Amino acid sequence: MRALVTGASQGIGRATALRLARDGFEVGVHYRSHRAAAEEVVRKIEGAGGAAFAVPGDLGRPPDVEELADTVTDRWGSVDALVLNAGAYPRASFSELTTPRFEECFRTNVFGSAELTRRLLPQLRTADPGHVVFLSSVLAFDGSQHGAHYAAAKAAVIGLARSLARELAPTVLVNAVAPGAIDTAILAGDTPEQRRLRGSRIPLGRIGRPEEVAEAISFLVSPRASYLTGVTLHVNGGLRTE
Ligand SMILES: NC(=O)c1ccc[n+]([C@@H]2O[C@H](COP(=O)([O-])OP(=O)(O)OC[C@H]3O[C@@H](n4cnc5c(N)ncnc54)[C@H](OP(=O)(O)O)[C@@H]3O)[C@@H](O)[C@H]2O)c1
Repeated sequence: MRALVTGASQGIGRATALRLARDGFEVGVHYRSHRAAAEEVVRKIEGAGGAAFAVPGDLGRPPDVEELADTVTDRWGSVDALVLNAGAYPRASFSELTTPRFEECFRTNVFGSAELTRRLLPQLRTADPGHVVFLSSVLAFDGSQHGAHYAAAKAAVIGLARSLARELAPTVLVNAVAPGAIDTAILAGDTPEQRRLRGSRIPLGRIGRPEEVAEAISFLVSPRASYLTGVTLHVNGGLRTE
């Protein structure tokens, strides 16, 4: 079994790469700028007896996406699971959000993942079934006070996942995970007071761990989720209920 995890040099992607390796996947550890961190993930997987390789690429750059898909295809031929985790949350008020800034946010969070999925489709179709998991966000549902472009991009991700679930069934199962506040670099700008406040607003009383999101992704790409496609798993400590 082979899984490509985008943005696996740190945070949720890193935890997911390590979790899927423990599940028995050979893992493609994709990164953009943190090569040493991605290589450390690979070493950790290999040290535990698994198999992995690091592969670079800026998902906001179409030539990089093409090269990433080609590298994975040349190396593996077939792909069982594609976890579209790479993303960025550039904070901005709406008055600052010019069309180029919207475009940049969508390139990183939506277009690159869609294009990578499109290019890896033949390889995913050879799996039985193939799995795709998109990383959305609680902000897709609740909105963001500090990034309308990011909330809109993460809502687009849900539309993509639901559409692909219909179009690619039954050969590829497509689902989404919508994390709440998770302890990664994305929250690194918080002051201790903001962090305390953030935790206090969550019914479970704390910010989530990357490993808790990885657990949901591990489930979605496993045979335990064989009758799930087009769903969004909310991993948010009760911050939002449906
Ligand atoms: N943490 C949260 O509270 C939270 C909540 C909801 C949703 N999410 C979503 O969950 C996913 C993971 O978030 P995280 O908190 O783990 O983030 P993170 O710690 O900041 O890690 C982001 C990862 O994405 C990669 N990346 C960023 N921009 C990229 C680009 N243009 N091309 C390719 N790779 C790129 C980074 O690569 P390099 O570091 O190598 O550059 C890194 O590996 C994201 O999609 C995020 O939007 C996170």
